[in-house]
Amino acid sequence: MNKRKVFELRRKGLHDMEDIAIQKQHLKLKLTARERLNILFDEGSFFELNTFAEPAKAIKKNQNAYGDGVIVGRGLVQGRSVFAYAQDFTVMGGSLGYTHGTKIAKVQEMALKFGAPCVGLIDSGGARIQEGIHSLSAYARIFQNNVKSSGIIPQFSVILGPAAGGAVYSPAMTDFVIMTNKTSYMFVTGPEVVKEVLNQDITMDELGGGNIHAEKSGVAHFVFEDEEHAIVQVRKLLSYIPLNNFDALPVSTDISFNEERQEYLNKIVPDDTNRPYDMKEIIHILVDNNSFLEIHEKFAQNIIVGFARLDGKTIGIVANQPKVMAGTLDINASVKGARFVRFCDAFNIPILVLEDVPGFMPGIEQEHTGIIRNGAKLLYAFCEATVPRITIITRKAYGGAFVVMNSLGIGGDFNFAWPTAEIAVMGPAGAIKIVNRTELAAATDKVSLEKELVEKYKDEIANPFKAEELGMIDDVIKPSDTRKVLITAFDILSNKQYAQPERKHGNIPL
Ligand code: HXC
Repeated sequence: MNKRKVFELRRKGLHDMEDIAIQKQHLKLKLTARERLNILFDEGSFFELNTFAEPAKAIKKNQNAYGDGVIVGRGLVQGRSVFAYAQDFTVMGGSLGYTHGTKIAKVQEMALKFGAPCVGLIDSGGARIQEGIHSLSAYARIFQNNVKSSGIIPQFSVILGPAAGGAVYSPAMTDFVIMTNKTSYMFVTGPEVVKEVLNQDITMDELGGGNIHAEKSGVAHFVFEDEEHAIVQVRKLLSYIPLNNFDALPVSTDISFNEERQEYLNKIVPDDTNRPYDMKEIIHILVDNNSFLEIHEKFAQNIIVGFARLDGKTIGIVANQPKVMAGTLDINASVKGARFVRFCDAFNIPILVLEDVPGFMPGIEQEHTGIIRNGAKLLYAFCEATVPRITIITRKAYGGAFVVMNSLGIGGDFNFAWPTAEIAVMGPAGAIKIVNRTELAAATDKVSLEKELVEKYKDEIANPFKAEELGMIDDVIKPSDTRKVLITAFDILSNKQYAQPERKHGNIPL
């Protein structure tokens, strides 16, 4: 047949995928790969590659195999270059064979070479069974590319269907995992294997649905009701971050903020130091209007992480949340914080820490599951970060947690405290029981003495003026001045230089 005719016919086939397959996909409340790419990219900007790829000849079936089940190429997001692959479940369940895997690897390699983010829209039955080991080697190349790209270009995985077995590792190594709560799931072994090996009954959703991964495992940074919101989230995230580790941060021209609410910061911290308040309120007041984009919102809620803009410029925020577990740092919070700090550092995003932390979480469960090893991840991440780093201590900053949360001692560039700050080795209740043990044992009115000693400790030891006197912080500031102080301080740090001896890489406690 005439080559031009073949081209037209096949091009037509590609764009009108078999109706039944599309209907099946829609019935599952899922979109097709092309519909998804249309949401991700600016209209008409998608530039497809390897459109006519087909499965390896040996296993070629007489069926719809267009593109070998994956669409790859480059498009624009808000006019910026982004590479993507979208697995097409209508073609052999989006399973990954040699050609399919090679297409993904190629687009990853182009993204890395041309310094643009890479987005995976994942909907796949995993390794294509008929292609055996060829599928596995294609996966291996994808994993290797994930790691080669890590810290050089941002990588996103949007899970819009199954991701099972080894297929979960590529998403796990990318910077952001986004799921839907009804149509996507991720697990290393599915419910059938769980039943066979452990005799436990569990549904796919309970085992690895979007909500589970957003709330319990922390694998998913975001979970959404539908695919459209999940994909749009990539566009939102991209508006805060650079295209690669040498690219400048995007700057917004909208620098509006809530001027009237700044005064409220002077009274937001309750007089009773054990009463909670919402750190997110402080964040919203400090940053540009509507600019806070929280990450991992449902996981380890005792710590808050996310991007925001301050005077139009992107910052990463790490904040203790006194409303949840009094803001104590446990294993999950430490790991969540550490991963975010490392992302910000890799992509040159300045970090703001808002601190109100009574300490690390005590207890047998935490000790036995590794709070030492995991808490050290957060410490390590802050210690090694070379981006501008500022801490505001709003209230408690006790013990190791004071040091960990970006103190001057571990390389924080500026530490400021509000007058309500309590900075010391430990909280007053614990401290007086050790320091004043004999006095307390001999006291007739123990309660009054305890009260008196606590006040004395707060006045003489655990206060921000003492910390400033000793050079542990840079200044005590009026809470309503915080935004102004931060804008100036980040400006001072905008040309921060750093140098350290060459090494292959550090050895973060994993
Ligand atoms: C080949 C596959 C396939 C696969 C699905 N299909 N998965 N073909 N290899 N891995 C095909 C089906 O045969 C079917 O073809 C079409 O895709 C749609 O699948 P359905 O089963 O009809 O869809 P659904 O009911 O929605 O179920 C989806 C599914 C199920 C849950 C993903 O297909 C499934 O369990 N597939 C196998 C999953 C799996 O075990 N994969 C290997 C994981 S191990 P027809 O022609 O009927 O339309 C792995 C190792 C990677 O990935 C290691 C990397 C290091």
